[in-house]
Amino acid sequence: MEKMPYQPHLDRTPMAMPSADRPTSSDWRDGLPLLAGSLVTLRELRETDAQALFAMLSTEEVSRFISPPPSTVEGFERFIAWTHRQRAAGQYVCFAVVPHGSDMAIGLFQVRSLEPGFGTAEWGFALGADFWGTGLFVDGAKLVLDFAFDVVGAHRLEARAAVRNGRGNGALRKIGARQEGVLRRSFLRNGEYLDQTLWSVLAQDWRDAKSVWGSGIVH
Ligand SMILES: CC(C)(COP(=O)(O)OP(=O)(O)OC[C@H]1O[C@@H](n2cnc3c(N)ncnc32)[C@H](O)[C@@H]1OP(=O)(O)O)[C@@H](O)C(=O)NCCC(=O)NCCS
Repeated sequence: MEKMPYQPHLDRTPMAMPSADRPTSSDWRDGLPLLAGSLVTLRELRETDAQALFAMLSTEEVSRFISPPPSTVEGFERFIAWTHRQRAAGQYVCFAVVPHGSDMAIGLFQVRSLEPGFGTAEWGFALGADFWGTGLFVDGAKLVLDFAFDVVGAHRLEARAAVRNGRGNGALRKIGARQEGVLRRSFLRNGEYLDQTLWSVLAQDWRDAKSVWGSGIVH
């Protein structure tokens, strides 16, 4: 998801944070569950994550191939409030990535619906650069793919990555996504239209891959 669906300049909604971030219902629209992997926990974003996410995601290294993230801590607070509203509307989910042994959000996984009912969706992700190459991506991605297919009910998850984004494309290949083609000059970044690779994971692919992980489809 090189293009972030959040549009700060269009968001004029007053801040209204939920009083608690633990869901009281099993419906993800009412609040995201905690998802525990072997290295990370994924959870709903909290207003207090804004400072850490600003520090992690605003660097040139992280943001060079994705839509510019909010440029201030307050901008991240507004983004976090927006994620809660979009989740409640059934359009989008955004998980904070929290390494085990810490309470700090060091990145995000986002999934947004591309059609009514969330059948086809798009996912995107970003981690602070200190956490690249540590295994946190794959651990979190497995949780998100399970959630998108088994809980939200998506049957197809798309991802777009700028062709020049070596790590983004490498990460998608590694999780078992299939490359479908190149979207020519489809992403405007720093005044330049970039080509993007279109990747997909189908629910059936994912279930098949999980049944043969031992043979190395996801490594
Ligand atoms: C995308 C991101 C979350 C992936 O996390 P990560 O920890 O870097 O991912 P991993 O290290 O597990 O996997 C990346 C793979 O790409 C490979 N890779 C790195 N640079 C590469 C390049 N230039 N060309 C091809 N592959 C490359 C890595 O070697 C690794 O594969 P390996 O583990 O088999 O060696 C992280 O890099 C990030 O936050 N990037 C900035 C935001 C972003 O670009 N998001 C993607 C939008 S689609």
